[in-house]
Amino acid sequence: MIVTVTTRSGRELIKGGLELNDSATVADLQEAIHKRTKKYYPSRQRLTLPIPSGSKEKPTVLNYKKSLKEYADGNTNNLTVVFKDLGPQVKYSTLFFFEYLGPLILYPIFYYYPVYQFFGYKGERVMYPVQTYAMYYWCFHYFKRIMETFFVHRFSHATSPLSNVFRNCLYYWSFGAWIAYYVNHPLYTPVNDLQMKIGLGFGVVCQISNLYCHILLRNLRGSDASGGYQIPRGFLFNIVTCANYTTEIYQWLGFNVATQTVAGYIFMVVAASIMTNWALAKHRRLKKLFDGKEGRPKYPRRWVILPPFL
Ligand SMILES: NC(=O)c1ccc[n+]([C@@H]2O[C@H](COP(=O)([O-])OP(=O)(O)OC[C@H]3O[C@@H](n4cnc5c(N)ncnc54)[C@H](OP(=O)(O)O)[C@@H]3O)[C@@H](O)[C@H]2O)c1
Repeated sequence: MIVTVTTRSGRELIKGGLELNDSATVADLQEAIHKRTKKYYPSRQRLTLPIPSGSKEKPTVLNYKKSLKEYADGNTNNLTVVFKDLGPQVKYSTLFFFEYLGPLILYPIFYYYPVYQFFGYKGERVMYPVQTYAMYYWCFHYFKRIMETFFVHRFSHATSPLSNVFRNCLYYWSFGAWIAYYVNHPLYTPVNDLQMKIGLGFGVVCQISNLYCHILLRNLRGSDASGGYQIPRGFLFNIVTCANYTTEIYQWLGFNVATQTVAGYIFMVVAASIMTNWALAKHRRLKKLFDGKEGRPKYPRRWVILPPFL
């Protein structure tokens, strides 16, 4: 089979096309493109079927596991595919590792080191118990996230664009440093003992619940991350689609009740609005996948992210 690979502007990426045997898969084609171009390794490539010019339809994205024949529409001699360069890629676990490493390192720096001298505060700093507990709570949170990245999550996407590393690190690192600056500040005023205990106690329960939610999500897929998207069930998933986000937001609420900083609350609101957008999309996707038609199960009635509001 001769495969013609064109760019989105219609230029032939590989002059004369590529010759592959009839049983070749999309993954074989990606390897062949990589061999010829050197620069475009498989995860950098997005291959689609051509669509008529001016059409508003979304093009069919080729699945690397499928045979090329499945896309040839009966013509086993020729196939044209459209190539898009997705740019440099990094593993998902690498992306997550770097975004979480920043807050994990930056927060203790503000707690342990006399950094406030550089901001004009020369005197001795008295640390309150809540500041110490908050530091352990914070570090546990980001350490847990890194461990989950490597040992719990089964991602459906192998890679992410390198540019996301810079964008996500900017988000996590700057919010981390900003919150750490205020919670460990020499002029910090602690909340009362009861409020601290309620906030941190509630937060710890939510962090553990969040871990359990991630384990339930993990069990929806095989060890090779196969199985696509399933209906999450059990524990809080029986009432809310994105119970993992619910517990994530509530654990930040617990941290903020105990530490009470404007920076912490702003981070919580920003994170909650990001997760709400994602949760709405995930809820829509599950309702579409499980529509109750042609033998497919019907997605049960559930809240999206924050019962009883949404
Ligand atoms: N503070 C913040 O700003 C913030 C923002 C976002 C997330 N987080 C935290 O980070 C955690 C991970 O977030 P995330 O958005 O990357 O992932 P996620 O949607 O929470 O999912 C975690 C893993 O479970 C898989 N999964 C989700 N729903 C599934 C389903 N119905 N069937 C099968 N597998 C499913 C995901 O697969 P895919 O790989 O296919 O997605 C992913 O590998 C969150 O739970 C939250 O604790 C924090």
